[in-house]
Amino acid sequence: MRPNRRVLLGGAAALGATALAGLAPLSAAPTGLFSLGVASGDPLPDGVVLWTRLAPEPLAPDGLGGMPGAPVPVEWQVAADERFSRVERSGSVLAMPEDAHSVHVEVSGLRPGAWYFYRFRAGGQVSPAGRTRTAPDAGLRRLAFAFASCQHYADGFYTAHAHLAEEELDLVVFLGDYIYEGGSQGSLGRGHRPAHELRTLADYRVRFAQYKSDANLQAAHAAFPWIAVFDDHEVQNNWAGDHSDTGVPRAEFRARRAAAFQAYYEHLPLRRAQRPTGPDIRIHRRLTFGDLVDFHVLDTRQYRSPAHTMLGPPQKDWLFHNLAGPTARWNVLAQQVFFTPLRPGASADTWYGCPAERNEVRDHLAHASSPVIITGDAHGNFVADVHADFDDPASPVVATEFVGTSISSEGDGIDHPPGAAAQLRANPHLKFVNRQRGYVRNLVTPETWTADYRVVDRVSQPQASVRVVAGFELEAGRRGV
Ligand SMILES: [Fe+2]
Repeated sequence: MRPNRRVLLGGAAALGATALAGLAPLSAAPTGLFSLGVASGDPLPDGVVLWTRLAPEPLAPDGLGGMPGAPVPVEWQVAADERFSRVERSGSVLAMPEDAHSVHVEVSGLRPGAWYFYRFRAGGQVSPAGRTRTAPDAGLRRLAFAFASCQHYADGFYTAHAHLAEEELDLVVFLGDYIYEGGSQGSLGRGHRPAHELRTLADYRVRFAQYKSDANLQAAHAAFPWIAVFDDHEVQNNWAGDHSDTGVPRAEFRARRAAAFQAYYEHLPLRRAQRPTGPDIRIHRRLTFGDLVDFHVLDTRQYRSPAHTMLGPPQKDWLFHNLAGPTARWNVLAQQVFFTPLRPGASADTWYGCPAERNEVRDHLAHASSPVIITGDAHGNFVADVHADFDDPASPVVATEFVGTSISSEGDGIDHPPGAAAQLRANPHLKFVNRQRGYVRNLVTPETWTADYRVVDRVSQPQASVRVVAGFELEAGRRGV
């Protein structure tokens, strides 16, 4: 049974929660200790991660959110019902100043494939309530999820998140560019704070807090568990391994990476296994939804060496071992940058820059069960079939790539961009091009995968409707869209 978010709002109100507005799209974010909302993520059959961060002054320039330099106890509850009358798990954790008073509660002992409601209490204040769902243990017949990426705050309003929060989904997958590190001010009264390019931990924390203060983003987090992975802008544009694209010296860049990863961990619902150690973080991981879907979440940044590898040898071995089985029916590579080659040549920041490793991944996908690649970064909607021989459109199709557009990056966008028709003609394996803003809604069953490209009319104004601009279907066991 799928609980109704409006019932959830009523239930929380009945309990006197102080900050309900955060759950209602297009309204103000909550104030007080829970000004950044709540989130959940990385579901397992018996549990999920619950997240919040105490920040009564989210934009305080020191990055500490207006909190004292001392631990603060935070109570949490998980209930089977939106009124919290049937609390199934509860506990208390300390929000630590070294983690910017964020908390990551790894709840276990829950029922598989079940909806739950959760909330926090600290300092006499109650958080907005969130809703989450555990992964099923087996026998799953249906998984509804959306994927999204690229939410440049100064480029546009998060209207897509408001609509996403209203969808009937089990899960959201966010493929990176959750924040942007630059100093641009934008033109919509949504300029960045701080205004300069991010360098310090305080800088990154303030930027995350600014993004997370958005009521629509909070609504999308509160409605579903998320699986999150970063791309480049969570650290710096087009970074690769230890290499800064702007020539920041290596030691200084590694310090920046450490600050960026720490702030990323502090603001997303990640497990302890994803807690960074200095400039290193283990973000690639596998999440399984019964025997239906395996998400192989990839890191195409941290182990990258331009022209040699995107994944690094250990992650590549891990992926190929995963794909060799046993796996679920559908194998999803959840990753950042465009995989399928396009003519004329794509950006060297994509898999285009690593042709040998791209061929290796393609050849392993050829032997995997129903492979699908989902991709962010491109600020456009694309659908492409991946052929066994990239240069021969008559060669067998081994996989399909769904590239999702941005939530807001690059502003309003257009339905039929100039050059799209020529691009489609030059690339017979490319099936769709659109450059509006939105997300991709997927319905996966043992037999079929339906991908609906959902776009909003504009992001330059805070209200816009959403529509399906195109839909595509895959059949399990048959390659090609
Ligand atoms: Fe982006």
